[in-house]
Amino acid sequence: MILGLAPMDWFTDCAMRQITQNIFDKYWNKSDYDLNLRTEFMTADGYDRNPWWVIKHLLTTKDQKNLIAQIFWWNIQTLIYTVMDIQNKYREYFKWIELNLWCPANNVMRSGWWAQLLKDKKTTLEMIKKLSEISTLPFSIKTRSWIDDTDKKNQTQFILDASKYCSIISIHWRTVKQHYSWDADRDFIYNIKKLADPNCKIIWNGWIKTYSELISHCEKQSNEAILDWFMIWQSAIWNPRIFTSHIPDKKELKEIILQHLNLMINNESEFQKMIQTPDFDILITKNKLPIDKPEILNRPIMEFRKHLFNYIKWIPWSKEFKQKIAQIKDYENTVKEINNFLTI
Ligand SMILES: Cc1cc2nc3c(=O)[nH]c(=O)nc-3n(C[C@H](O)[C@H](O)[C@H](O)COP(=O)(O)O)c2cc1C
Repeated sequence: MILGLAPMDWFTDCAMRQITQNIFDKYWNKSDYDLNLRTEFMTADGYDRNPWWVIKHLLTTKDQKNLIAQIFWWNIQTLIYTVMDIQNKYREYFKWIELNLWCPANNVMRSGWWAQLLKDKKTTLEMIKKLSEISTLPFSIKTRSWIDDTDKKNQTQFILDASKYCSIISIHWRTVKQHYSWDADRDFIYNIKKLADPNCKIIWNGWIKTYSELISHCEKQSNEAILDWFMIWQSAIWNPRIFTSHIPDKKELKEIILQHLNLMINNESEFQKMIQTPDFDILITKNKLPIDKPEILNRPIMEFRKHLFNYIKWIPWSKEFKQKIAQIKDYENTVKEINNFLTI
């Protein structure tokens, strides 16, 4: 049985995945389970034109045993190039390649080509067929239930047809219109699973919010064996500990926060070196803690804030701390403020 950390643009960077994998390895105690991680979605067009601009999404480490490269774009030639290049250069690092279909973010939905992919399911299906043929790694799609009620029947048929070409299909059971917030028709996934090609694994995604919900999903699954895998996201943003019932005290929380910060700095430093080399090697091999030259790395410190604020989301009286952190760009002072805040 596989559990997955769903991809999330701006969050599932290499450091976040390392932290999640560490927690899973340390605490998850059910046998026969493994963890899948996914990169943030990477534009295939960006990869084709300016790889150094987007390749940071693919950074990885040896401990990320089951990593999936997620890509998106609408042009088949560009997608073919990206799939071929990833599997030629980096196949040892990825379990499979996944095409994202579709994201409801306003900027994405406003772009004509994305909306076109949603409506022109015939062309999209041809694209999936072609990509699955050229991919020597398993190929998957991640999609939603349907756009709105008028699209339900077509989307069901689309997913069933796609299941003939994909090794795996992840279904986020909210509709495109529902974005991320509404509860929805979960039976949709069960129906798909019943009718889909039996060789295609179906992954459930959506609204597993707590460890106990995750466990009850796992128990249901072991009794009924309906779905193949589960994937979790929004709950893991603020709580990579969703894979354990263990609640950390402030000391432990501080340790993990500082570890996460150090990983982000280390990864940025390795990334800066990597893009100087002609053939980018996406494997980060060094994890030097503490950092020897933190002063050159303001960027990861600023990027770390989003993770930090999620970690402390449930601690009262954190407003003043957040205001202070938002002004700080250097390592020493960031660590000092975190230490002060979490030792009170
Ligand atoms: C801010 C944000 C960014 C996301 N980025 C991606 C992405 O890059 N690729 C993708 O397939 N899904 C993306 N998703 C969707 C999630 O992977 C997931 O399908 C969704 O949050 C539902 O799962 P949940 O109910 O456990 O949160 C994103 C979701 C959010 C809220």
